[in-house]
Amino acid sequence: MNAPQLRVAVIGAGRWAVRSHIPGWQRDPRVEVVAIAEIDEEALAAAAEEFGIARAVTDYRELIDDPDIDVIDVATGNAMHFEISMAAIEAGKHVLCEKPVNSDFRETRRAAALAMEKGLKTKLGFTFRFAPAIQYAKHLIDSGFIGDPYIFNGYEQNSQWIDPATPLRQVDPDATPDRIAVSSIEGYGAPIIDIMHWWLDAPMTSVVGTMRNFVPERMVRDTGRMQRMNIDDGDMWIAEFEKGRLGSIQSSYVTVGNFPGIEARIYGSEGAIIVRLVEEAGICQTIKVAKKDSVEFVELEIPQEFFPEGGSSTEPWPFLFYSNLCKDFATEILAGDDANQGNFDQGALVQETINAFERSFRTRAWCDFPLVDESVVAQAESAIA
Ligand SMILES: NC(=O)c1ccc[n+]([C@@H]2O[C@H](COP(=O)([O-])OP(=O)(O)OC[C@H]3O[C@@H](n4cnc5c(N)ncnc54)[C@H](O)[C@@H]3O)[C@@H](O)[C@H]2O)c1
Repeated sequence: MNAPQLRVAVIGAGRWAVRSHIPGWQRDPRVEVVAIAEIDEEALAAAAEEFGIARAVTDYRELIDDPDIDVIDVATGNAMHFEISMAAIEAGKHVLCEKPVNSDFRETRRAAALAMEKGLKTKLGFTFRFAPAIQYAKHLIDSGFIGDPYIFNGYEQNSQWIDPATPLRQVDPDATPDRIAVSSIEGYGAPIIDIMHWWLDAPMTSVVGTMRNFVPERMVRDTGRMQRMNIDDGDMWIAEFEKGRLGSIQSSYVTVGNFPGIEARIYGSEGAIIVRLVEEAGICQTIKVAKKDSVEFVELEIPQEFFPEGGSSTEPWPFLFYSNLCKDFATEILAGDDANQGNFDQGALVQETINAFERSFRTRAWCDFPLVDESVVAQAESAIA
């Protein structure tokens, strides 16, 4: 067997790492997962055995210091994303990191700039961008299928937490119950915001919107008790873009429907495309299109070139979409050119969009974008608080 061209170390062996990251990397024959780091020794041993990973350590720094490792994949909980990513970039590694890299988009942009300066590539865990149907739709948009884009509508919604007894970990124990806290739009909305920017392909100029708390009391995972949780479990937003384009986003985890629950629609001067990433009847993705002279939507078959090797729409979506993400990152790194889709800069843009959405809700007004004037922002925030 040929030696692998890319040596990857995965940090964190939790639920998402074992469902998507590690099997995703291992699907690519150009890649070897040479090491794994995890602070929980049981989880570490289990993952190393299940995936046949030779080197298993509890201190991720050992892997950052190893000159033979090319890529660091950060799949820990959010609290460690930035620290590990920065350390890896400083040590000269390409980095894949789960979202968000940092809840302050300026810090994410700083990490992106450092990587760029060092000639390194970064990638955010924007799982749904790498769904074959979403990639194919982008190819159609770029080929002129819809003409000039007019309107994008994006949904990330399912009913994962519609039952108040389903434990939820996204809660700040110090949050004041009289002020609704951002939850769904950050935890759920990020991937569809990414797709909105990518498909509309024009600078966003202004946003407005609102958040709701539909389920007042929930089971909190950390305490095991029902308690008041004033969190955004559903929200709607409108965005204006240059070139006269419009976008909307709706995110919720209390809206009836199956996983993952992405729907992306784009309408232009010549045609329209609707992609659904929803597990239904054993299929995890569909793409439908219409033209201005043929307005009934018809389903398209997704060409094999948009899939990972041997992939199909009947595979579990975390594995299918994530193996496409890993394949794409490996291709970008090995090609060594400028291509680097869904990178940390894009992550910063998505985080800044979420912050602008929140600001529009708090001020009950349109919020200009980008959020440039930090002193005004700080002033507005202290007035609200
Ligand atoms: N992109 C997506 O679609 C998607 C889907 C699910 C989860 N996620 C993200 O993936 C990340 C992991 O989620 P999860 O559900 O697997 O969480 P998890 O809690 O099951 O796993 C995180 C693991 O990281 C380990 N860890 C923490 N600090 C560490 C350190 N310093 N070194 C090594 N290991 C460390 C923990 O022990 C834990 O096992 C989160 O950021 C989550 O938001 C993304």
